[in-house]
Amino acid sequence: MNQKSRLFEIKRLKGLSALVTGASSGIGKAIAVAMGREGANVAVNYRSSKDKANEVVEEIKRHGVNALAVKADVSSPEQVQAMFDKVLDEFGTLDVLVGNSGIQKDGPFLEMSTKDWQIVLDVNLTGNYLCAQHAAREFKRRGVIPERSPSAGKIIFISSVHELIPWTDHCNYTASKGGLMMFMKSIAQELAHLKIRVNSIAPGAVKTSINEQVWSDPGKRKELLNLIPADRLGDPQDIATVAVWLASDESDYVHGTTIFADGGMTLYPGFAGG
Ligand code: BGC
Repeated sequence: MNQKSRLFEIKRLKGLSALVTGASSGIGKAIAVAMGREGANVAVNYRSSKDKANEVVEEIKRHGVNALAVKADVSSPEQVQAMFDKVLDEFGTLDVLVGNSGIQKDGPFLEMSTKDWQIVLDVNLTGNYLCAQHAAREFKRRGVIPERSPSAGKIIFISSVHELIPWTDHCNYTASKGGLMMFMKSIAQELAHLKIRVNSIAPGAVKTSINEQVWSDPGKRKELLNLIPADRLGDPQDIATVAVWLASDESDYVHGTTIFADGGMTLYPGFAGG
């Protein structure tokens, strides 16, 4: 066995249980599969794509861990409650929550409907509030089990470069991600003494269905690449590797921060010419 394959033999999340919201596709799917590969039991939340969620579950189970698909609209308090009941019933407890569900409903501010404003805030912000509250209550109830982890639990939000970068025609989305940043930091501060770690990952332009109309159009894709110093779109795997690290104890001293995985999108690429 060479050194590289030995490295991959170390299962960094062995024996832990994770719930990933919005995990039937894209970034959520990559994270759920990566966590299974690292030895975690994984609950794959989905809202409507049952078949796709079941495929993700099958893929995770091939790594010899337990997995289940669990339906819930994360913006519904009742459905989130039912989801946690099911996950805790199946896994006994929870160690990692990945709040990944997120949507865009783009449009100019002057024409935006209250409906499009509200639904984005409901899913991207309130959804994370609801899931994090259930997860943190379980982490507190169980507390630290030293053989399991020095941490009582980890919460990882999938934010966006737009928690920082303003974006015309996307004010509902940027407001949700900016809000998520302060929500993350506030509860990280509040929960640290319970040995609960809360952090975010801010992806840049990762190739998923959320931005498909941009990357599938050659002209728009070129414009987008001008905003990325690394000169490539992100892959869901680029985010999954960071999520596994944040979920593992390698990051035990990391609290209340956002890790940008964006190919340098937040480096003011307009200034690159000097
Ligand atoms: C958005 C994508 C966008 C990227 C970079 C993400 O948060 O969901 O649509 O391509 O930010 O602007």
